[in-house]
Amino acid sequence: MSRLDNQRLWRVFSIITLLLLGVVCTATEAQAQVNCLQCHGDEGSKIRSSVHSFLSCTSCHTNIEGFPHPVGASFNKKESVATCTSCHKGLVSDSYAKSFHGKAVHLGSKKSATCINCHGAHDILGPDAPASKVAKENIPQTCASCHSQASPGFSEGQEHFELTATGPGAPMYYTANFFVWLTLITITALVIHIELQLYHNLRTILRERKGR
Ligand code: HEC
Ligand code: HEC
Ligand code: HEC
Ligand code: HEC
Ligand code: HEC
Repeated sequence: MSRLDNQRLWRVFSIITLLLLGVVCTATEAQAQVNCLQCHGDEGSKIRSSVHSFLSCTSCHTNIEGFPHPVGASFNKKESVATCTSCHKGLVSDSYAKSFHGKAVHLGSKKSATCINCHGAHDILGPDAPASKVAKENIPQTCASCHSQASPGFSEGQEHFELTATGPGAPMYYTANFFVWLTLITITALVIHIELQLYHNLRTILRERKGR
């Protein structure tokens, strides 16, 4: 065989290997899903009737491949937030990070709310679905799992909002801006005051020297 034939043979061989590898990989992913359902059928049916019906178990449980499960297969609070925000970026994750709950969880709170405390983990529905934990009528009940005096007023606010001059974030926006300006003006006034005092002291010293 010539060198050219050899090269061609290699190329064909590599392509076939790659194709086979592709088939094997898709097969194992589908198989992983079937495997999960053998033991966790309930979770399967919950996911199927949720907004995430198109996701596979391992889209979220990225560290589980089969059984027995690795140690630490369950999520702690920070991991569960990271799972959701790996797909839900932008407004939703930013507003959560800036919220009281988000900051507390970031600082290690075991009691504060993560995404799943308000939305559920497998049975998640959008805010427009009547059965959703975050549908307007159900919000007081959702908050009440931690806030014992959750009144119907809890459903009046918006959970995920931008800090802008218009829209639901406006009061927070103006409050935040007010304090930023208050701080800046106070510090500027303080600096001017100190400078004037120093100038005054310097002049007194110079005058005293001259007078001597
Ligand atoms: C042979 C049955 C079996 C299969 C297959 C199986 N699980 Fe499990 N799973 C269990 C049992 C039993 C537990 C509870 C005890 C434990 O953690 O090992 C569990 C616990 C879990 C937990 C809770 C975390 C924990 O450690 O307690 C998660 C999450 C989970 N499984 C996800 C999955 C996913 C995703 C798959 C598919 C990739 C899967 N399981 C496949 C039997 C199974
Ligand atoms: C949208 C992301 C997501 C998908 C998709 C998902 N899970 Fe989960 N799962 C979670 C989260 C988050 C938790 C942690 C719940 C908690 O701490 O209360 C969890 C917890 C679990 C647990 C522990 C038991 C429990 O309820 O706390 C099992 C078992 C489990 N999942 C299996 C599955 C199986 C099987 C599938 C596929 C049919 C699946 N999960 C798909 C996010 C997901
Ligand atoms: C304290 C409860 C609470 C927490 C924590 C929370 N949410 Fe929400 N979420 C809500 C409510 C209530 C709504 C309904 C719309 C609104 O008020 O903004 C909502 C709406 C949503 C929506 C739909 C947005 C839309 O415009 O349709 C998504 C997606 C979402 N949340 C994802 C997340 C993710 C991801 C996290 C964690 C990073 C999270 N949520 C944390 C309560 C919460
Ligand atoms: C693998 C990517 C992925 C992960 C992980 C994921 N989601 Fe989603 N989620 C989606 C997609 C895609 C949609 C449908 C498009 C949309 O409406 O944003 C969706 C829809 C939603 C909705 C409904 C939005 C609406 O307006 O109707 C909520 C609420 C939500 N997800 C919350 C969560 C929470 C909470 C977690 C973590 C437990 C999570 N998601 C994890 C991809 C993901
Ligand atoms: C998993 C539990 C949990 C859930 C669910 C939850 N929260 Fe909270 N939230 C907390 C904790 C813990 C704090 C900190 C309380 C403290 O130490 O004062 C907090 C603090 C707050 C604060 C700021 C501090 C305060 O007490 O005024 C507001 C506002 C708030 N939550 C609103 C809500 C609303 C609205 C919902 C429902 C959409 C909700 N929370 C759901 C646990 C939760």
